[in-house]
Amino acid sequence: MRGRGRLITIEGVDGAGKTTLATGLLRELTERGLDAELLREPGGVELSERLRELVKDPRLTVGGRAEALIYAAARAQLVEQALVPRLERGTWVVLDRFVDSSLAYQGAGRELGIRSVSELNAFATGSLTPDRTLLLVVPEVVAKGRASARGAPPDRLEREDEAFFARVREGYERIARAEPERVRRLDGERAPAEVLADALSNVADLL
Ligand SMILES: Nc1ncnc2c1ncn2[C@@H]1O[C@H](COP(=O)(O)OP(=O)(O)OP(=O)(O)O)[C@@H](O)[C@H]1O
Ligand SMILES: [Mg+2]
Repeated sequence: MRGRGRLITIEGVDGAGKTTLATGLLRELTERGLDAELLREPGGVELSERLRELVKDPRLTVGGRAEALIYAAARAQLVEQALVPRLERGTWVVLDRFVDSSLAYQGAGRELGIRSVSELNAFATGSLTPDRTLLLVVPEVVAKGRASARGAPPDRLEREDEAFFARVREGYERIARAEPERVRRLDGERAPAEVLADALSNVADLL
């Protein structure tokens, strides 16, 4: 099912610098003459964008299981409608969050278990796995400071307590330890240009 395109996902907690890196990486890949596109999760296609609004709405009560299912539904549509067609025609996709976000946030953060959430997501994505995942690691205070400096009010997930984010971080670390070839940890505390250079060297073998 996979064509010649490559799927690179960017992961990390809120405010880690994912969107900044994803944007820079897209520019670099395009400058190298590659047909590349940037998509975000959950979203990128109409159904998924609407599900994103629902799941982030602080006015709604959403249980952990419902949350995991909504993210999985948004992801299933993104895979079918956007990712697979692009990868099949040879487009490189830089994706701002993917399955690992659910493993970390719903599996570890909500304590549903990384394994159950992984099974749910294997169903949702038809087991589509990224060629490379760049995990931005920054201290909690730095991530919080960056996220709040943006000025937007915190969404439903951003309102969670410290213990939740500590579990999310540990979830990401477990994933990185389990799959060191796919998942590359990047020190996200450095200047954006340095983070980008490190990211490029971590995808160089795919080029
Ligand atoms: N390496 C960096 N050094 C300093 N500031 C940064 C760095 N990367 C990003 N920032 C700034 O931090 C803020 C958050 O960055 P960004 O939006 O890229 O994070 P994010 O991980 O996408 O957050 P979210 O999960 O909430 O979407 C932005 O104001 C951005 O300009
Ligand atoms: Mg972002």
